[in-house]
Amino acid sequence: MSENFDIKDIALAEQGRFRIQWAAREMPVLALLEERFRKERPLAGLRLSACLHVTTETANLMHVLQAGGADVVLCASNPLSTQDDVTAALVAHQEMSVYAIKGEDNETYYQHIQAALDHRPHLTMDDGADLVSTLHKGRQELLSNVIGGTEETTTGVIRLRAMAADGVLRCPIIAVNDALTKHFFDNRYGTGQSTIDGIVRATNVLLAGKNFVVGGYGWCSRGIAMRASGMGANVIVTEVDPLRALEAVMDGYRVMTMLEAAKIGDIFVTSTGDINVIDRHHMDVMKDGAIMCNSGHFNVEINIPALEEVAVEKRRVRTFLDEYHLPDGRRLYLIGEGRLVNLAAAEGHPSAVMDMSFANQALCAQYIAQNAADLDPKVYGVPEEIDLEIARLKLDAMGTRIDVLTPEQEKYLSSWEEGT
Ligand code: ADE
Repeated sequence: MSENFDIKDIALAEQGRFRIQWAAREMPVLALLEERFRKERPLAGLRLSACLHVTTETANLMHVLQAGGADVVLCASNPLSTQDDVTAALVAHQEMSVYAIKGEDNETYYQHIQAALDHRPHLTMDDGADLVSTLHKGRQELLSNVIGGTEETTTGVIRLRAMAADGVLRCPIIAVNDALTKHFFDNRYGTGQSTIDGIVRATNVLLAGKNFVVGGYGWCSRGIAMRASGMGANVIVTEVDPLRALEAVMDGYRVMTMLEAAKIGDIFVTSTGDINVIDRHHMDVMKDGAIMCNSGHFNVEINIPALEEVAVEKRRVRTFLDEYHLPDGRRLYLIGEGRLVNLAAAEGHPSAVMDMSFANQALCAQYIAQNAADLDPKVYGVPEEIDLEIARLKLDAMGTRIDVLTPEQEKYLSSWEEGT
């Protein structure tokens, strides 16, 4: 058992182990990589600090990194996403230092990030860029050890690009989110299913027939809209980007401003990456009983301070559901304190999509280990060969076979002479 950790309850280890094994059944690509890493040890001698949602899927990634020889420490990338039985299993059975407790306050959250940095990482692995930004803000003495890192999510990549644009990023980072085998599947099908899962677990409301407002129409929102529509909800999309708005219209959804949508929505989900997408003036016109939640990385998309200020009373009416009583008698509901609803009120994305996302993480960590000398301090995309390899491995694992181009077809595609 590891000696350095801060977790809820080590007695949960056995339950965690069973659930991690259950997730592994849906993660065949990671299983293959684990076998390969155990033989080749591509991360031998490297200390790795990971700041990720601590779930059963993440535990399976940790197994792969350890099999590859990395000395890994893990902390949470969100105060509400940790699965406490998983932290216990990692500490008890994987000899890992873990710093994560579901429901930890902000101060503890950052103490845990500092503890992960105390590991003096050569490699960082982030989901939302809190680890890398803390490293650059207050722990710069550690930067000389760091050969590079990876970033899992859209919001983190945006932050890191802003750091690079400001000239402050001092290590290379691979944007795992940009891999097609990540955002096509994880952001769309993963967020789609797990967001609905979080809403249903938190409220048990029927979605059929409800006005279901989705803030944004990026990959995550597309998935949420698609799945809500599949459950019979009337989906309304709000956007600021004209192309995405057009796409939403042609995908069959109603598109309108948030102010219009606020008057008729029953359920609201934000997934834009921006602040105050649902603001005080929207809440002012919402119907009694409207339910709000967020599926974007940070809890800034719904103006919660404004809601807290206007409410005359707040009660927790179900495990992850807060009721806000407004002066005019209306009651508005907020799921999971406005944090990622899929991880706060449910278990995050299903293992089958995390299999691909985390295969990208493992192979990108290997790529950095092997190519560190040639990388500059900037944000890199995932090498195409990694993306294609993961797609092939996933198809193989699913038993799906695809055609190959004939020599004649290849020739046709590379010639310009043949026309009508
Ligand atoms: N992000 C979204 N879903 C996740 C999961 N199941 N595990 C880790 N990170 C996630």
